[in-house]
Amino acid sequence: MAAQSLQFPRRSLLFMPGDSLKKIQKAATWEVDTVIMDLEDGVAQNRKEAARAVVGEALLTLGFGPRERLVRLNHISTGLPPVEIDATCMGRPDGYIVPKAEDESDLRAVDRLLDAAEKRLGLRDGAFRLFAMIETALGVMNLKEIARATPRLEGLIFGAEDLAGDMGAARTRDAWEVFYARSAVVTAAAAYKLQAFDMVFTDFNDAAGLETESRVARQLGYTGKTCIHPNQTPVVNAVFSPSVEEVDRAQRLVAAFEEQQAAGAGAFTFEGKMVDMPMLVAARKVLARAGTTESLSP
Ligand code: COA
Ligand code: MG
Repeated sequence: MAAQSLQFPRRSLLFMPGDSLKKIQKAATWEVDTVIMDLEDGVAQNRKEAARAVVGEALLTLGFGPRERLVRLNHISTGLPPVEIDATCMGRPDGYIVPKAEDESDLRAVDRLLDAAEKRLGLRDGAFRLFAMIETALGVMNLKEIARATPRLEGLIFGAEDLAGDMGAARTRDAWEVFYARSAVVTAAAAYKLQAFDMVFTDFNDAAGLETESRVARQLGYTGKTCIHPNQTPVVNAVFSPSVEEVDRAQRLVAAFEEQQAAGAGAFTFEGKMVDMPMLVAARKVLARAGTTESLSP
């Protein structure tokens, strides 16, 4: 499960309302790693049925090239996921997203529905990937059980807007009000070998603000960021792709480490700073993300 979950490094994940065929069609032209067709909060209550039909049809008929195709479900308590999966599984999306995940039962319920859909369609067990959104206080408290709920789970998505609402916190540009949760999500993801995707940046005309927020996310260990507008994905892709300088430095560090190990030194000086095993692990991760090594296993 661990190595498999890292084999598709997603940098940008773009949400679009499931009832907008136009936006879904356009998604296939954007520079984006993952397309998220939303059936949840991006769709008005009186458009839920229409959205299911549009997403089902889009998955069956549109080509998305190399882009991963995900469907965001409504929460299991709405009673909607069974019909949502029925309406969309024929189009073989790559996976589904559980919003507002609060405990393992939220994931297990969807897991069972996906098991049944796979059997009906003659697909292998686990063919549909699963992602959980952590965007409530209870979800943050139960991160461990959510992260371990099912081997189908590939990633955690942090949702700051819903969380702030749930906590009665005021959203600010610096995002300190959600820092504990933002950090907890990426820590849980690392502990259970999942990918972690950062919150959306709602001011889609502010590219500089998006870049700053994306850099903080990357520093925290996030592997990618969710987006709401196509003008955000090039910025996010750039931040989450290792730069030429980073790759070069990582390659030199790995080479120096191997040389020093052979000479019997575990810790040594590299470009004026102490280097030992944790820096090697970090350098290998940079190379894996850059696609310069064969395996992305940690
Ligand atoms: N996915 C795909 N295409 C999108 C898009 C998205 N998320 N957001 C905008 N576009 C398209 C528009 O259709 C438009 O296409 P056109 O030039 O052919 O008309 C183009 O990109 C430029 O869009 P723009 O006019 O700047 O924005 P808008 O007013 O059409 O839409 C939003 C603004 C916020 C409503 C829109 O970006 C959106 O729907 N975002 C996703 C919302 C969502 O899913 N929320 C739930 C998860 S948080
Ligand atoms: Mg939400």
